Amino acid sequence: DWTTGNIVEEQVERIREQIGSGRAICGLSGGVDSAVAAALVQRAIGDQLTCVFVNHGLLREGEAEQVEKDFVAATGAKLYIADEQERFLSALSGVTDPEEKRKIIGREFIRAFEAAEAAIVSESAAEGEPVRFLVQGTLYPDVVESGGGEGAANIKSHHNVGGLPEDLQFELVEPLRTLFKDEVRSVGSQLGLPDEIVQRQPFPGPGLGIRIIGEVTEDRLELLRKADAIARAELTASGLDQEVWQMPVVLLADVRSVGVQGDGRTYGHPIVLRPVSSEDAMTADWSRLPYDLLARISNRITNEVDGVNRVALDVTSKPPGTIEWE
Ligand code: XMP
Repeated sequence: DWTTGNIVEEQVERIREQIGSGRAICGLSGGVDSAVAAALVQRAIGDQLTCVFVNHGLLREGEAEQVEKDFVAATGAKLYIADEQERFLSALSGVTDPEEKRKIIGREFIRAFEAAEAAIVSESAAEGEPVRFLVQGTLYPDVVESGGGEGAANIKSHHNVGGLPEDLQFELVEPLRTLFKDEVRSVGSQLGLPDEIVQRQPFPGPGLGIRIIGEVTEDRLELLRKADAIARAELTASGLDQEVWQMPVVLLADVRSVGVQGDGRTYGHPIVLRPVSSEDAMTADWSRLPYDLLARISNRITNEVDGVNRVALDVTSKPPGTIEWE
């Protein structure tokens, strides 16, 4: 594809100009954007780039494994894995406000990178040159919605745009900053990334942290992970993955309702399904998924996930609702 080829060449040139002989790190979130940004920078500067995967404990089932296996296999990039679940859980303890959560997660993410950078630099002490650049997979819609675009309102602090700490020690490299999602996907394919990564539905940087409405705790994460895995598995089994843009699964952790399960009364939490169709996430419509599929997801979640006794469907477009609940 002529246009995509141009984007790749142009960005590779720009990245080389910005980074020169310096060293860079790039956080992989498991999502399309960071994977494509990393692959682009890898193409431009090779081993001067080290990819860092921060496991913040807000991931979905199987996501860590996907980054460790598929991405490395496709790019041959250097990968450093930082297990930081404790850091995030304790920073989020007691926090319920959505913007506060986003800011904390964004801040801790950068701090986790700094810790990773220190480890990477001391591991390769012989080479000496410190890591100066931080690669981020910020897309054009992220820039606009975080108030970076012309005249745009600040709707949410995207964790890869807003909430950066003031003592940030890195210079940012954002090769996807002018692109929309579909362009990012074709750039990824052009760079040889497999469909499992490139066609992956979007997943927000703050992860399950913004899909638990209420305080984020280990138990709640565990519960949401199970519900989400069931919903995703059933959607895939129905062959409708390509029909939906993404399907957030949300836990209303502070809401309880009465149910009847097995031998008696329960007082459990609702899970909300938020399947949407969209072109670029700026606007979205709720997906008219088949009732049979919704029934299977609902039956399985209420049967298999302890503490959940109700499944609700979000039938709101964007606007007025955003795609994520926080
Ligand atoms: P909203 O909820 O604003 O989401 O309608 C629009 C799209 O962006 C994703 N999203 C994020 N992606 N960091 C990201 O990389 C974030 O902080 C973030 N917040 C939302 C969301 O999943 C949807 O695809």
